Amino acid sequence: MMATFGCNLRPDFFLESQYIPLNHGSFGAYPRALRPLLHYFQEKAETHPDRWLRREMFPVLQENREAVANMIHCDPEELAFIMNASYGMNTVLRSIPMKEGDKILCFSTAYNAVDRLLAYIQDSRKAKLVQLELIYPLSDQQILDMTREAIEREGPESFKLGVFDAISSVPGVRFPFEKMCKLLKEYNILSLVDGAHAIGQIPLDLHAVDPDFFTTNCHKWLFAPRGTALLYVPKRNQRLIHPAIINVSYKDHRDLEDQRSSYQDEFSWPGTIDFSSYMCVKQALKYRDSLGGEDKIQTYCNDLARKGGQIAANILGTDVLENDEKNLTLHMVNVRLPLQNTTLTDSQITNHFYDKLMYEHNTMASPYKHNNKWYARLSAQVYLGEEDFEHAAKALLSVCSDLNKQ
Ligand SMILES: Cc1ncc(COP(=O)(O)O)c(C=O)c1O
Repeated sequence: MMATFGCNLRPDFFLESQYIPLNHGSFGAYPRALRPLLHYFQEKAETHPDRWLRREMFPVLQENREAVANMIHCDPEELAFIMNASYGMNTVLRSIPMKEGDKILCFSTAYNAVDRLLAYIQDSRKAKLVQLELIYPLSDQQILDMTREAIEREGPESFKLGVFDAISSVPGVRFPFEKMCKLLKEYNILSLVDGAHAIGQIPLDLHAVDPDFFTTNCHKWLFAPRGTALLYVPKRNQRLIHPAIINVSYKDHRDLEDQRSSYQDEFSWPGTIDFSSYMCVKQALKYRDSLGGEDKIQTYCNDLARKGGQIAANILGTDVLENDEKNLTLHMVNVRLPLQNTTLTDSQITNHFYDKLMYEHNTMASPYKHNNKWYARLSAQVYLGEEDFEHAAKALLSVCSDLNKQ
């Protein structure tokens, strides 16, 4: 029998029964069904470390890479398991050869750590960041137009790379990454896509989109245990990339005659770690199949985010951050908060929300400020129903009333 989505599915996960979790977007959660397998692989590493870590785990990792490559339409040889999207973004940005003055196109909505990583690349490589400010709501076309205009203005040949999200963190909105890859290709500019939120939230066809580099977290929307992500590098670019942790397989590929790739060897051993979570990806896909498959899961979450967002906006007396095409909302919905003037700093406000939501209301939805307005990002998931959005919205309203008095 097919599972029914909603709070009755919550016991499939380890989440506390009284906790109303509307923040899947931050750290993900994995189903109980994966735990025995995770422990099984950990035990294999303990009972005979040499056999396991030198030989026997590699075919298991390969099977998992094949399963996920099949899902996102690429070759397993183009995928490397890595611990998280932060590692993927660091790997690419620290690897790509840059010379002084090379420009990097980026956006004001980059994830906070990626924003600092870009600042580091600017400082250490003397690259120049061309950052475009995005003030939502925006249509895909507006984003593409302002990008084209910036490239033309700055001179296409001065750009080395464009860095952008598939789905941004705050605001939690879809970004037209497919069209952006195409646009950059027109100008011969490399594309690095931060797809931290992508796999499991949207269908992916990497060969069709053809980014130059793409990273995605399996521990967010795919239900793999934490510390599981992917880096996709098509064969043509593998010679440009070395992992952020260099291992014994490092090879210099600057000689253009040498077309051999050491990508898989360089990424397969990031020093001694627990590889077990990577081996649970196939099982995560099986669990998703048992719920009815990607379409069913993704449609449920998209619908719930839209309905739940409207419920929350009605309770808060505000609105949902959407454009005219209504294509910003996927599994995360952004609802404006009725915060008036308060004397508190942004960080005090954020921490006040965290403390009150987590410890008094036993719920969580990420508060953030965009264009001088406060919003909450509420994540839909298969283990949630509309009543959970109602609970979170009432909690947010209560915290706002509290803050409006300060
Ligand atoms: C857009 C984006 N990029 C990167 C990250 C970093 O992910 P991780 O902490 O798994 O490395 C996040 C995390 O939420 C994110 O939202």
